[in-house]
Amino acid sequence: MRTCRTVASLRRALAARAGDRVGFVPTMGCLHEGHLSLVRASRRENDVTVVSVYVNPSQFAPGEDLDRYPRDERRDAALLRREGADVLFLPADAEMYPAPYRTWVDVAGLDGKLCGRSRPGHFRGVATVVLKLLNLVRPQRAYFGQKDAQQALVIRQMVRDLHLGVRLRVLPIVRDADGLALSSRNAYLSAEERRAALALPKALRRAQARVAAGERDARALRAAMAAEIGREPLLQVDYIAVVRLDNLEDTAAVEPGNTLVAVAVRAGRTRLIDNFLCGEISC
Ligand code: PAJ
Repeated sequence: MRTCRTVASLRRALAARAGDRVGFVPTMGCLHEGHLSLVRASRRENDVTVVSVYVNPSQFAPGEDLDRYPRDERRDAALLRREGADVLFLPADAEMYPAPYRTWVDVAGLDGKLCGRSRPGHFRGVATVVLKLLNLVRPQRAYFGQKDAQQALVIRQMVRDLHLGVRLRVLPIVRDADGLALSSRNAYLSAEERRAALALPKALRRAQARVAAGERDARALRAAMAAEIGREPLLQVDYIAVVRLDNLEDTAAVEPGNTLVAVAVRAGRTRLIDNFLCGEISC
């Protein structure tokens, strides 16, 4: 595996593989099985797998956890080597945002909904850095997790709008044995918060079972999830949403093929998200 810390060295590494099918997995590091599932999919479907590890400052709102976001470069590199990744891109801030930096991507209409409401500027930072990374790597396929469903939808819209010509592969949420969706931020949770957080997958599982049994009423689903999550005093609900996949607007009725059921809560200082899909994001 080649480790590249500069744009120039990344370009050299990629030039050496010209003509190969390139798969790209963007991450912020502190890798877990969720990230590694994306790396494995890329390995299966491409000749070269490029992984970026970059804690992108522009997607953190002021007061968020940029400074304490977990970083462990050596462990990440060892995991990626073991998975057979070919190129690890580890840029510094000055490499990604050379001063003066002025160009930003707004995916209008999708970026202010759900997580965008409580994280102003977040999706602008995500879309911008992902576009920059896609421009550098020029992959045939890029891999994202359904865990961050809104992020995947924002990127899908950007790919379509800007004719990026990359295939997006959105892979299922990888969970711990107890059901909690894996996240680098789970490391922040106390033992009690972690136990309380299991209300998310539980509520979503029940809601998904009700949908499978024919329930279509979004209000009834939201109420049942709110009751389940509301039983945990350690959790503060940010949103419980049943929305259309194509525009993230609230919907009154679950529409199979075009619905996202998504939940965000706070457990102490930690923000947690989880969801299930009735539909497909990959394109
Ligand atoms: P990060 O949170 O490190 O996640 C990198 C990728 O891993 C994302 O596509 C995310 O959805 C996926 N992922 C995270 N947890 C997962 C899980 N439990 N199961 C499956 N996939 C999971 O998302 C980002 O970084 C950044 O916003 C980034 C896209 C790199 C831009 O900075």
